[in-house]
Amino acid sequence: MKVLVINGVNLNMLGVREREVYGDESYAALKKYILASAKELGIKARVVQSNSEGKLVDYIQRAYKKYDGIIINPGAYTHTSIAIYDALKAVNITTVEVHLSDVNAREEFRKTSYVGLYAAKRVTGKGFAGYREALEFFAK
Ligand code: DQA
Repeated sequence: MKVLVINGVNLNMLGVREREVYGDESYAALKKYILASAKELGIKARVVQSNSEGKLVDYIQRAYKKYDGIIINPGAYTHTSIAIYDALKAVNITTVEVHLSDVNAREEFRKTSYVGLYAAKRVTGKGFAGYREALEFFAK
């Protein structure tokens, strides 16, 4: 089982940005946590991050026929990007959407998710543990 974990815009700022929402731990710590969890679950995972919408689309396109699953937290592009939604549909890879914060309990605009229209599962508001839950979905 090979899973590509894609983190989007501003997630590289973890530990600096809105710590009351996203916590004190850094993006490097998140990456380490995801890779360690994947190893424990017997999943081969690659973790990537970009602030650019087009780059995220490129990562998704390049996953075609190479990965069995995608875990994606597009950051704010979740709420705006039809391009990311279309790319996921194009490659037709089972996808789990993850958000560190509880997007449904925040501003109204965060309740919209284009990726959510495609995702087989959504995990929100569980912090780092949400990525583990997403990995467990693929480990089954
Ligand atoms: C986020 C939630 C988004 O609404 C926000 O724009 C982010 C992070 C999360 O992980 O909780 O950048 O995706």
